[in-house]
Amino acid sequence: MSESSTSLLSLSPVVPVVVVDSAEQGVSVARALVAGGVGVIELTLRTPAALDAIRAIAAEVPEITVGAGTVTTPARAAEAAAAGASFLVSPGLTPALLAGMEDTGLPFLPGTATVSEVLTVLEAGHTEMKFFPAEASGGVTYLGALPTVVPDARFCPTGGISLASAPSYLSLANVGCVGGSWLTPPDALAAGDWERITKLAAEAAALG
Ligand code: 3PG
Repeated sequence: MSESSTSLLSLSPVVPVVVVDSAEQGVSVARALVAGGVGVIELTLRTPAALDAIRAIAAEVPEITVGAGTVTTPARAAEAAAAGASFLVSPGLTPALLAGMEDTGLPFLPGTATVSEVLTVLEAGHTEMKFFPAEASGGVTYLGALPTVVPDARFCPTGGISLASAPSYLSLANVGCVGGSWLTPPDALAAGDWERITKLAAEAAALG
């Protein structure tokens, strides 16, 4: 799938970044997000359950597009693709990681935080990327300064963004969506409070 035919940045104004402890939890979260009008989920590969959760969501919740986040090595990219991820997101990039994500044939968002990294991604033929950690790296002010020098680059800023700060990012012409974990707070996940997650998802979906 070439990037020209797929815009990951157009799937949803907010991409929920989710950490799960079990495949069952992942399925329940995915259903709660769909109920709130969010059709995409990024499962971070930070817990042992992440790959199983991707597999389960891909099989049991076809209404949602499930991707893998925190992809940090070519091997992790391949594992996520084999588990059924529809897209990949990395927090940063190396030449090997970029090549490993390309090898999967999936659309992906490589992580960038500097102009040199943005140029590296553009040089490899990709225009969509993650900007991480967004708030700590200069936030809206930094992203707003980029179009003059890298007009083709489009971003999904992630890291420290909230429902309150998301609109200022989304108002930038070079931002297609934002990522964030605020839709799936750890205490709501632990308590199985799916209604709360559906409510948070509905608020995020309304930003579109
Ligand atoms: C990520 O993996 O992209 C970040 O952990 C998400 O950042 P946030 O938790 O500050 O939203």
